[in-house]
Amino acid sequence: MNKKEKLDDLNKKWKEKCECELKKTATQAVPGDGNPISEIVFIGEAPGKKEDELGRPFVGAAGKFLGEMLSHINIKREEIYITNIVKYRPPNNRDPLPEEKSACREWLLDELKIISPKLIIFLGRHAMNNFFPELQISGAHGKLLIQKFKGMSTKYFFPLYHPAAALYNGSMREILIEDFKKIPKVLKEIPARGGSALG
Ligand code: URA
Repeated sequence: MNKKEKLDDLNKKWKEKCECELKKTATQAVPGDGNPISEIVFIGEAPGKKEDELGRPFVGAAGKFLGEMLSHINIKREEIYITNIVKYRPPNNRDPLPEEKSACREWLLDELKIISPKLIIFLGRHAMNNFFPELQISGAHGKLLIQKFKGMSTKYFFPLYHPAAALYNGSMREILIEDFKKIPKVLKEIPARGGSALG
């Protein structure tokens, strides 16, 4: 099976198995989407209204902004993989609850194991805190984090502000755009798998 087939199987399995309470109110699951052999995976928070309707992540206003930032660094959306920590829309786009995050956590970890990207980019504090609960996004954004997690081959992480939060906040927007521009350089600094330039 190739990675695409493995992900299709995985999503089918988790759509049945996931015990997230948000299943009761959401229209459908919104699994990850994009290039399964991408060296970058973006992780957001949870689907919004548009994502819930279409069953695909980042297809609303935040997704449009994300697409613009990607085009500035010459990356096409189809080239990367995007997913969320929570796979179902929280009512009225409220923050996902800790138990909703835990219910969807294994699904996310299974996706990451299949893709095994070189770099994971967190979009916002919820995604970052899912892996680094002690960090504040205000201090950690735009800085490369290196950490080995049990059962995960990826050890490079890059937190960013969430595009939806930055969309209508001038100063946060500027910071996000500047942080985004660092991505190509960050990618170059990460050694090919097995290398050790950064530890
Ligand atoms: N915001 C997110 O975090 N995820 C989406 O899929 C859409 C908006």
